[in-house]
Amino acid sequence: MNEFFLADADATDALGAQLARTRPADAVVHLHGDLGAGKSTLARALLRALGVRGAIRSPTYTLVERYPLAEGGEAWHLDLYRIADAGELEFLGLDGAEVRLWLVEWPERGAGALPAADLTVDLAMHGTGRRARLRPGSTVGEAWLGRVAAGHEVASDS
Ligand SMILES: Nc1ncnc2c1ncn2[C@@H]1O[C@H](COP(=O)(O)OP(=O)(O)OP(=O)(O)O)[C@@H](O)[C@H]1O
Ligand SMILES: [Mg+2]
Repeated sequence: MNEFFLADADATDALGAQLARTRPADAVVHLHGDLGAGKSTLARALLRALGVRGAIRSPTYTLVERYPLAEGGEAWHLDLYRIADAGELEFLGLDGAEVRLWLVEWPERGAGALPAADLTVDLAMHGTGRRARLRPGSTVGEAWLGRVAAGHEVASDS
């Protein structure tokens, strides 16, 4: 079972770093969870571990923030909480050709207009910490989760 108990925000950061270390060349990650469940924390930790420097803003209002990656291409962090329907994504003129990594918060609001997930992360409150469930959506995602499970060092409280 790909389930992790994340006792504090540092544990969420550690999971993000582990996902970055083990990530495939191209990956689409859908981040599910209520407001405050830790989606942005996980996305930020992933981006940091990929070498992104400087401010990592929440894309709450911009819908998308783009980061060039050292090895070429871009990582895109999306937060679709504020869109009314998936059609709004088309007006952004998003061309994902250069995107090596998609990190999408509230992907359910962009259904049909987003690439399918290789990995879906479900985050939820768990006491004062969080619980993360990781589900593969493709063979690439299955292999990724295998690497995560083999090497994870995430602090666990239960
Ligand atoms: N494992 C954890 N245990 C306790 N607190 C955590 C954990 N992970 C993250 N947090 C904290 O939860 C708060 C909210 O996190 P975050 O902004 O990442 O949530 P979110 O899911 O992106 O919310 P939103 O839907 O509003 O964008 C932050 O203060 C963060 O530090
Ligand atoms: Mg967020």
